[in-house]
Amino acid sequence: MELEYRDRHILAPMVRVGTLPFRMLASEYGADITYGEEIVDHKIIKCQRQINESLGTIDFVEKGTGSVVFRTCDAERCRVVFQIGTSDAVRALTAAQLLCKDVAAIDINMGCPKSFSVSGGMGAALLTKPDLINDILTTLKRNLDIPVTCKIRLLPSSHNTVELAKRIEKTGVSALAVHGRKVADRPRDPAQWDKIADVVAALSIPVIANGDVFDYEDFQRIKSVTGASSVMVARGAVWNASIFKPEGKLPWESVKREYIRKSILWDNDVKSTKHTLKEMIMHHSSLELAEGKAMIRSATLANLAELYGEESYYWFVNGINGC
Ligand code: FNR
Repeated sequence: MELEYRDRHILAPMVRVGTLPFRMLASEYGADITYGEEIVDHKIIKCQRQINESLGTIDFVEKGTGSVVFRTCDAERCRVVFQIGTSDAVRALTAAQLLCKDVAAIDINMGCPKSFSVSGGMGAALLTKPDLINDILTTLKRNLDIPVTCKIRLLPSSHNTVELAKRIEKTGVSALAVHGRKVADRPRDPAQWDKIADVVAALSIPVIANGDVFDYEDFQRIKSVTGASSVMVARGAVWNASIFKPEGKLPWESVKREYIRKSILWDNDVKSTKHTLKEMIMHHSSLELAEGKAMIRSATLANLAELYGEESYYWFVNGINGC
């Protein structure tokens, strides 16, 4: 099964944001490929695949705790990419094999600079270990029949980034996502689209350009500057998931409402829904105002439904007549 990686507008992997409701929302607005949040291999390996008849989903549930680590559904199988955090080829493969029939592709996170990732040898720690990268990617490629990709950041020199990208291409991956920032860069530092262009020029596989896409017009701008035909967007999508609409964005209030409805529909983890709402509210308003404070106080999806006037939808979905 091949996934088309050219000319794609892609929802980036985002911890606590990229769960099923947000992916479905982005896709409804026009995202062609939707990445799930990074999940560490150790965690997936502890999971059991369960069909959730009442929701119509496939759940990967942690044995012992019963918590849902990954939830997906048939409707997104053709476009959902599962991103793994790993530092070991065999563990990554064990994790990928558990999931590979339910997702469109497997991606390895090689860019996360956070200490929990790097201290475990994952994320950006891999960027300095090309042999390990090679081991992980070739192991996955040899044993999986869905596409394998990875997502990197820029290295200190463009030459080194290009050399690493060429080495990655040789493993047979289907595409390479490049976040146009270095490991030490902060999100407010501008993404270096020209450095992504160097990678695009050196590779034959599709390169997915990522960084600082905040409006629909930016898709075309980053494509022109980098030469990449596919673009990945993270913050621009959290702040307004309708960024994928060619006609322009919808008002964020209505996008937020739709997100809450989808969170209710797919029974999302309330912590994930609150985290996503927090990111939206912090960008457009303030957590210090009444809405932000009430959102933070909400302990359940029912509380959020009440806060946002979606009680009847909540009761409709949950099968109880609220009248
Ligand atoms: C991220 N990013 C990220 N990257 C990744 O490879 N795996 C992940 O799980 C996450 N998680 C995550 C959460 C949140 C809330 C944000 C904002 C970002 C990085 C992200 O995918 C992207 O590379 C950067 O944010 C740059 O893109 P933008 O934001 O400039 O479009």
